[in-house]
Amino acid sequence: MNPNYFFYLAVALGVIYIFNRLRIRLQLSRAKHPSLRGHSKWSRRISKLLPFFDYTQNLFFCSDGAPHKITEQRKQAFERLKQKTQHQNSKSLAQSAALENSISDVKFTSNYRVPFPYRTDLPSEFRLGTMVDETKGSKIRDIDGNWRFDLSGSYGVNVFGYDFYKQCMQEGFNLTNELGPALGPYHPLITENVEFIKQVSGLDEVSFHMSGTEAVMQAVRLARYHTKKTHLVRFCGAYHGWWDGVQPGIGNRRKTNDVYTLADLSEATIKVLETRNDIACLLINPLQAFHPNADSFSDSTLITSDRKTAFDKEAYAKWLGRLQAVCNRRNIILIFDEVFVGFRLGMRGAQEYFNIQADLVTYGKTLGGGMPVGVLAGRDDLMKRYRENQPADVSFARGTFNSHPAIMGSMNAFIRRIQTPEIQAIYQSAEQTWNNRVALFNERMFDKGLPIKLSNMHSILTLHYLQPSRYNWMLQFYLRSAGIELSWLGTGRFIMSFSFTDEEFAEVIECFVVAASQMQDDGWWWNSPHLTNKAIKRQFIYDMLVTKFPILNKCLKSPLISTEMRKKSRPLSSVNDTNVNSNTIKKVS
Ligand SMILES: Cc1ncc(COP(=O)(O)O)c(C=O)c1O
Repeated sequence: MNPNYFFYLAVALGVIYIFNRLRIRLQLSRAKHPSLRGHSKWSRRISKLLPFFDYTQNLFFCSDGAPHKITEQRKQAFERLKQKTQHQNSKSLAQSAALENSISDVKFTSNYRVPFPYRTDLPSEFRLGTMVDETKGSKIRDIDGNWRFDLSGSYGVNVFGYDFYKQCMQEGFNLTNELGPALGPYHPLITENVEFIKQVSGLDEVSFHMSGTEAVMQAVRLARYHTKKTHLVRFCGAYHGWWDGVQPGIGNRRKTNDVYTLADLSEATIKVLETRNDIACLLINPLQAFHPNADSFSDSTLITSDRKTAFDKEAYAKWLGRLQAVCNRRNIILIFDEVFVGFRLGMRGAQEYFNIQADLVTYGKTLGGGMPVGVLAGRDDLMKRYRENQPADVSFARGTFNSHPAIMGSMNAFIRRIQTPEIQAIYQSAEQTWNNRVALFNERMFDKGLPIKLSNMHSILTLHYLQPSRYNWMLQFYLRSAGIELSWLGTGRFIMSFSFTDEEFAEVIECFVVAASQMQDDGWWWNSPHLTNKAIKRQFIYDMLVTKFPILNKCLKSPLISTEMRKKSRPLSSVNDTNVNSNTIKKVS
């Protein structure tokens, strides 16, 4: 045969191979969400380019272009609210301030309660968290003696009200007190716990860990070990704990080349799962049904009024069904991360709620009955940490405090309680209860002409703002003053406990009415035809650009803040850092 044929054949095969590789790579690119959240590397690069700028002094009060009268009204209201907060929370604020320089978490959350351009001039009264010393039912008391309705939900742990967990913790401690901290051997209560978890998860084996993050780490590690494949698929915006293996992108300097962040509810994602051979597991946080492809909402990113939720239970259940089918076909391990929603959406959690059976399921938070825990449940073939025919190839995982007797005790108390007819009845009605309460809330706000509205997935709520504003984040401080305790996410997420009675929720609604009416009267929701969500975003981008490239100040028009306004705001000489276009937007070098 002519040797040229071999040459042409080799070239043709090479071209086909390269085209195929390109096609698969293109498929992967198309399955990523078009936002930066879907592009870990780019988000990391771009985050490094974004400069800090801040609205100091007067511009703090008129960054939306509000006229002088409104600015003055806001200033006075701000001072009043500050005084009131100082008066209400003096001990709490003093102790919190002392901790700010010693606990990195406090420093971080202090700085990320509001969008960053406002944080420099935000007084400490509005930066700091609360110091608390007692809880009762749905309420929490700060060290100054103020009782507030707790909408923070203790990061999701608090499903049934604080008294429930206090009882579980006490009972758990009593049950295991005699054993103390003996680790390695097990307290016999573990058997009942394991049997129950197997039953609710529909899976064969269980492992105990100290946090949800660890349970997820173990799930992913086992999926890779058993499939002998390398890559993890997660969905854009989904949180799975703070391990860098599930947080590619901003803030993670480790190269996470083994993670694909794909778009939720996307045909392109199905194609990637169908065709790639390197995917070991698909990790799903079912909470994403509430806001597919978006991070959980937080007031620190509340730049304008366009939070979007898109909860459609049926459509999401169908989508999960399709994912389950493709995972089965392609030997991809389906992991449900139920650390947040497990034992909240129902006793069998998201699996029951969406009618899906996963291969591995992680639990945490509330399952510890108020104590720290992470749990992994899985099929027996996937949970195995060794291979029968390769004795040296083990997947070793341990943790000193796993299965700690006191935690097994409080978990046991939790498990027994949630099986009682009273709790079962609560589970049956919880979704409808929260849908009704959200509807009531919205009716009341509408009747009062207040520009806010709730949306929910079951008992997880978020607040929407109905008119464009740069100051929505102020509401969290009015709410605190009116008797509502929030997490540092502010109005981004309310995690409701089932202990709220209708009467208590009616009181919560009235707290919102008081807070939002005051905020409205104080001028923060001033509006003008120029103040659109688009214009606010343009102003934000403008401020960023002129901070980075001051020359642009001469050729670009500022969308909302007039030069006049900037000039009035602060004399140049009082700014120490590099001054940019205005007197009040400063760049930190
Ligand atoms: C879905 C999900 N997975 C994992 C975690 C991490 O759990 P932990 O904070 O206990 O490590 C969280 C925490 O919020 C979560 O919501």
